[in-house]
Amino acid sequence: MGAYQIRGGSPLRGVIPIHGAKNSLLPILAATLVTKGECVLHNCPRISDADVALAILRSLGCEARREGQTLIVNTYPACETEIPAVLMQKMRAAVIFLGALLARFGAARLTHPGGCRLGNRPIDLHLLGLRLMGAQCEYEGEELLCRAAKLRGATVALPFPSVGATENLILAALGCDGEVVLCNAAREPEIADLCGFLTACGARIEGAGTSVVRIRGGCALHGTEFTVMPDRMEAATYLCAAAATRGEITLTHTEPAHLRAVTDVLADGGCEITQYARQITLRCDTLRAVSPIRTAPYPAFPTDAQAPVMAAMATAQGVSVFEETIFSDRFRHVPALVRMGAKITATRRYAVVEGVETLHGACVEATDLRGGAAMVIAALAAHGSSTVLRSEHTERGYAALVQSLRDCGGQIIDTE
Ligand code: EPZ
Repeated sequence: MGAYQIRGGSPLRGVIPIHGAKNSLLPILAATLVTKGECVLHNCPRISDADVALAILRSLGCEARREGQTLIVNTYPACETEIPAVLMQKMRAAVIFLGALLARFGAARLTHPGGCRLGNRPIDLHLLGLRLMGAQCEYEGEELLCRAAKLRGATVALPFPSVGATENLILAALGCDGEVVLCNAAREPEIADLCGFLTACGARIEGAGTSVVRIRGGCALHGTEFTVMPDRMEAATYLCAAAATRGEITLTHTEPAHLRAVTDVLADGGCEITQYARQITLRCDTLRAVSPIRTAPYPAFPTDAQAPVMAAMATAQGVSVFEETIFSDRFRHVPALVRMGAKITATRRYAVVEGVETLHGACVEATDLRGGAAMVIAALAAHGSSTVLRSEHTERGYAALVQSLRDCGGQIIDTE
């Protein structure tokens, strides 16, 4: 179990290059299963979730290796359709391999995916779409067995724009005879990036990134070379750290357009934000509360930024009200922020943050990926020393977190 030791109270100042997006790389790695040939992926962050995805590919018989920020994957030798349970329970994105396996082999065996505990996280929407495409999906105890002699074209109206279900159904659709139309599809930028990769492999997809996506199945997909989009949540996290410590940070290799909902909130709070082609600078002298901050599907305010923004708002002037509409239990970081002196009262859906003058150091334990990041942000802002336990949570999704913060004057060390 790893931990961060942090001495807070000083402004962060410096430049941080943003890495490739975890939530784009993971579905793209699953998508390589539907290609025949070598895929060379650039801008792949060194995060533990990427290691898990590579382990899944290797367990299925694929070849995969890392050369710096580049991953080289050849799924031609793939010969297995069962994903080891020990890998399934490590991350939610493991479920995206289901659609790819059905498209490639017409069969898949897996258990329910693990990952961040954010409340109830069923996969009923994934199965709804797969069944409409002709797949038989049945549980045998803990195991889900899916078979499809032949996937067929269908129109799938998603009751909710689920990111994972959209990705899974796009991959399964590649194995269909005919066309699949996804209605009310998720519009997150990571979906467009996945479709960009697939199109580069020869797929025929229309409407990527919109709420109606059309996928023509039955095309033989070849390998390709592709660069993963920048991680908008990593960028949001560092902007919140700059705001929380009243510092000034410039992010490079980022995409400001993906972050509009977050930078709008921070600007409303008094941060001075300047954006260039692939660069964002945030400077914060004083921070005012913003209310309401309501999470919703893209392009609205993203649920993954809720915890980091809350950590910044903990010392803002005034009262911020957060409404979490995506997950049923995504305020699990609140008790740790309160231990550090924050004044927050929360129900399942709402959190009221009354800004305090300063936070103080404490020993806290990361609850999940973004909750752990929020604790690091609060510890950097707090006066005194803090320990954030269970750093493995943040290692799942933030490459070089400690070094990036140290490069900006953050006093943080990782005690493995
Ligand atoms: C993806 O999770 C992201 N993970 C999450 O990021 C992100 O918070 C989430 O999308 C929302 O943007 C990855 O991309 C690996 P959903 P996913 O399906 O696909 C319910 C992070 O920190 N739902 O859009 O699981 C579900 O319970 C992670 O990087 C169903 O009811 O999100 C939730 O309440 C955390 N049935 C809501 O929809 C289903 O079949 C959103 O889930 C599927 C989802």
